[in-house]
Amino acid sequence: MYYDMEKDIDHILVGQEELEKICDRMAERIIADYGESGHDLVLVSILKGSVIFTAELYKRIPFPCAIEFMKVSSYGAGTDSSGFIQVHLDLKRDIKGCDVIILEDIVDSGRTLQKLRSLLSDRGAHSVKCFTLLDKPSRRQVDFNPDLVGKEVPDEFVVGFGLDYNEKYRNLPYVGVLKPEIYETK
Ligand code: IMP
Ligand code: MG
Repeated sequence: MYYDMEKDIDHILVGQEELEKICDRMAERIIADYGESGHDLVLVSILKGSVIFTAELYKRIPFPCAIEFMKVSSYGAGTDSSGFIQVHLDLKRDIKGCDVIILEDIVDSGRTLQKLRSLLSDRGAHSVKCFTLLDKPSRRQVDFNPDLVGKEVPDEFVVGFGLDYNEKYRNLPYVGVLKPEIYETK
């Protein structure tokens, strides 16, 4: 018998139907805001947590739209905008004059997206917005707010639908809260 990840989940926070609805809503917003913008639209998906969310959104967009991937991590402490972002994988195209939407799985301290947004703005994008599937506003350490949030979640560690714990649980089809003993035994 295979290892059933479901037994490690305490409870489901965002079920499959709700995730579908969140993606429908976000796609509608993208269509309304960018469908006739006159600028090339580039979705920038942040690896690895955003891949499932990105694919779900992408297939709902009925007009030409590019997709790019970045892998980044943020460093630096404090509650100001000090610290920096390390880019492990960069865009493969010029975004000058483009409308850019950064797609993130979850905003926690806000450091990653705050830094990434200014980095991409500095490259001459026409606009840079941040859309996130989940947001934990109670954890914010810097002055950053995403432009669109799928769902606000409490300060609990969540996995599934792309989000991981030690590279596990990304492939769960819903977002759930891990049982505490999973952390405690590792
Ligand atoms: P921050 O907003 O710069 O602190 O970073 C957010 C990143 O932290 C996300 O992209 C996730 O990779 C990770 N993260 C934060 N909270 C969670 C969680 O509950 N589950 C899984 N990953 C999380
Ligand atoms: Mg991430």
